Amino acid sequence: MEKELEVLQSIIKRRRSVFPVSFTQEEISVESIETILESANYAPTHKLTQPWRFSVFRKEGKTRLGEELARAYKEHTPAELFLQKKYDSFGLKFQQSSCVIVLKAQLHPALLPEWEEVAALACAVQNMALTAEAMNIGAYWSSPGPVANMPEFLELQDDEKVYGVFYMGYHNAPAAEAKRTPMAQKVKWIEA
Ligand SMILES: Cc1cc2nc3c(=O)[nH]c(=O)nc-3n(C[C@H](O)[C@H](O)[C@H](O)COP(=O)(O)O)c2cc1C
Repeated sequence: MEKELEVLQSIIKRRRSVFPVSFTQEEISVESIETILESANYAPTHKLTQPWRFSVFRKEGKTRLGEELARAYKEHTPAELFLQKKYDSFGLKFQQSSCVIVLKAQLHPALLPEWEEVAALACAVQNMALTAEAMNIGAYWSSPGPVANMPEFLELQDDEKVYGVFYMGYHNAPAAEAKRTPMAQKVKWIEA
């Protein structure tokens, strides 16, 4: 039991967001992606709605998604705020990643408030991040604005919403300490 706790805490603490610039070109196999997704399915979920929905983009599909994100960025950004560097970065990040997963939630407004579904999705994504870390696969959750402006491309259902993308790749980023202030500053104990 003690060993299990050690392993679990070690993975939790050493997981870092790893960005596409550090990804190598080694491909993540379908089997490995399925292992990571399987962990998502064990997240807690109020009323068992299991709201997490994922679209996995690889190979040519990934390139098309990058192009579409860049297009949506250009279309929905006022000219005075448009940044060519940001526009170009979509294609580059997608090229550097082995796989990009679009993160969606299926909402059930008659059953639950949206925040509970988003919380369940976030738990699922954390399960994915920890599983990826245990497999030496780098990942990070990104919230690019334009992803909300391409429902047709993503074949989004009426009851679904997009909450960002999860970039993944094998990587050569050095291990890094987490930047966190002490937990004691964030907890109140009430015992009487
Ligand atoms: C919901 C969510 C959205 C995020 N969106 C972005 C993003 O758009 N761009 C980015 O650089 N990092 C994003 N991050 C990653 C955070 O920057 C990262 O978790 C934070 O810097 C702490 O670093 P760590 O994950 O290595 O501990 C996001 C994280 C979460 C949970």
